[in-house]
Amino acid sequence: MDYKRMSFYQVYPRSYCDSNGDGIGDIKGIISKLDYIASLGVNGIWFSPLYCSPNADYGYDISNYRDINPEYGTMEDFYELIEQMHKRNLKCIMDLVINHTSSQHEWFIKSRQSKDNPYRDYYFWRKGRGKNGLLPPNNWTSFFTGSAWKYDELTKEWYLHLFDDYQPDLNYDNPRVIEEVEDILTYWLDKGVDGFRCDVITILNKTKGLPNGKGKLVLVGKEHYVDNVDMKSILARLKRDCLDKYDTYTVGESVLITVDKALRYIDEKDKVLDTIFAFDHMNADNVGGIRQLPAKFNLNILKKANQRWQNGLYGKAWNTNYLENHDQARIVGRYCSIATEQLRVKGAKMLANVMLFLSGTPYIYQGQEIGMTSMPNMSYDQHKDTDYFRSYQLLKKIFGRKTALAKLSVLNRDNARTPMQWNAEPQAGFSINHQTWLPVNPNYLTVNVESQLDDGDSILNYYKQLIALRVDTDEMIFGTYTLLNIGGRKLYAYLREYNGKRLLVMSNFTDKQYSMRVPKCLRNCNSHLLISNYQDSPIQLTDCVLRPYESIVYRLI
Ligand code: NOJ
Repeated sequence: MDYKRMSFYQVYPRSYCDSNGDGIGDIKGIISKLDYIASLGVNGIWFSPLYCSPNADYGYDISNYRDINPEYGTMEDFYELIEQMHKRNLKCIMDLVINHTSSQHEWFIKSRQSKDNPYRDYYFWRKGRGKNGLLPPNNWTSFFTGSAWKYDELTKEWYLHLFDDYQPDLNYDNPRVIEEVEDILTYWLDKGVDGFRCDVITILNKTKGLPNGKGKLVLVGKEHYVDNVDMKSILARLKRDCLDKYDTYTVGESVLITVDKALRYIDEKDKVLDTIFAFDHMNADNVGGIRQLPAKFNLNILKKANQRWQNGLYGKAWNTNYLENHDQARIVGRYCSIATEQLRVKGAKMLANVMLFLSGTPYIYQGQEIGMTSMPNMSYDQHKDTDYFRSYQLLKKIFGRKTALAKLSVLNRDNARTPMQWNAEPQAGFSINHQTWLPVNPNYLTVNVESQLDDGDSILNYYKQLIALRVDTDEMIFGTYTLLNIGGRKLYAYLREYNGKRLLVMSNFTDKQYSMRVPKCLRNCNSHLLISNYQDSPIQLTDCVLRPYESIVYRLI
C-alpha cells in the first residue's frame, strides 16, 4: 500500500456518532459520517477497537476477537462500513490488541479454571512469593500503576497484567498463542480489512523466568519486556504468514521507543512493520514522559524529538506524525494557549502546519480537525478511564487529594474521549440522548463541525487544504528535514528539501509578537508564500514581526 502518500484519520467509535440514541457512538453513526471523513481528503481510517469488550479499558480489553461489540452494532453493520469505505477509497485499519485479552475472554475464563487446563499456558500464571505465596511473583509494575500481578483465589496463583487487572497478558512462548493470533488476523483480512494499528506491539515478548526488574515505582521490569530478544521474530512471523498475503499496511504502537530500536522493526531493508508511532514529541509538557505529571510546555523538547525522528529515520524507514489520539489530552491548549477564541484558532492551525509539513504519514484524530479542546472542570465521578482512577490512587498518596486531582485533570485520557462536536444542537449533535457516556465539552456551541464547514478561514478548512497540498507536494512527503538553529523556545523553523525544491516552515509558538530576522543562510533566497494561518502574512520571506501563533510556509526558489 502506498502509505507514504496517504493520510489517516482516527475514529474512537464510542465518541464519534450515536445513531440509536443510547449515548454511545456506533457503526451506523460512523457510516453516516463517511462522506464527511472522505471530504477531509484522508485515505483511510484507523478505528480504535470495535470488537466485543466488557470495557474495562473501552475496547482495549477484548473478550471476542471475532465479533463486533453489540454496543457498536453487528457484523452486518461492519460489512456495510467496509463496503461504504471502499466505495469512497478509504482504507480500513483495525486496532490489533494482542498483548493481552480481556479477563472475560473465553481463553482466560478457561485458563483460570484449573492449573492443568489446556488454556492455562496462554497466560502467565505463577505461584506467589513469601509465606503462603501471598506476595506477587515479581516486582513488575503495571502501566496503569500498582503491581502487574493479580492473585486469583480459585487456584491460589497470580497472573500477569501489564495494564489493568482485567487485561491479562498473553504468553507468546506458547506456540498456540501465536497460531490463534494468526487465525484472527486472517479472519479480518479475509473480510476486507486493509491493515492494523498494533497496540503496544513491542512488549509481547517477556524474558523467560520473569525475573525481578530494576527501578522503583514506575514501569519496574520494563527491561524484561520492552523490545525483548524474540520480539522481532514474532512480528516477522505474523508478517510472513498473514500480512504479506494481502495488500496491507501496519503501524505499530511502540513503548519507550528510540530511533535505533524502531529501526529494528521498520528499517525498509528488513521491516516487520511498515511504520511505528513514537512518543518523544508528545512529552514536551510532562515530566519524563509521565502523563500524570504535567509540566510547562517546552518547545525545545519538541524540536529535539522531531530532529531525532525526522533525521534518524530519513532514507531508512518511514515516520508517522500525530499530535492527538485517544490516549492524549487535546493538543490545542497544551502546545498553544486557548486563552481566547482567536488564539485557539491560530494555535490549532499553527500546530496543523507543524505536523503536516513533517516527513511521515499523518494521523489526524477525530475533532483535531476542528480544534477541539480538553474537557474543563470534569469531576472525579464523571471520569471513565481506568488509568485515571488507578493513577489517582497513587498520586493521592504522594501529593494529597487536591494536588493529585489537579495534576490528573491536565493530561488524562478522558480529555480526548468526549463526544465529537458536530453542531450546536443539544449533545453537540453526537446523540439525541442527554446521557452521553462521557459529557460533551460545553464549548460545542462554538467549536463544532457545522460552524466550520462553510467558513473558508476555519480550522477544518485549513486541515483540508494541508491534506490536499501534501498529495501534490513531493517536498512535503519526501523532503529532507533540517532544523534551523534559531528561535529558542519561541520560534520553530525547519526546511524540507527534495530534488532541489525547498520549503521553509516557520511558526511562532508564543501568544505574543515575535520579531523574526531571516537567518543568514536564507538571506539571498527568493521566496513566495505557500500557506499561512494568517490571511495577510508577507508574501515573501523578510524580517518581520510574527503575530501570536503565526505560522508561515514559504517556497524558496
Ligand atoms: C495503548 C492504547 O492506545 C491504550 O488506550 C490502551 O489502554 C493500552 N494500549 C492497553 O491496551
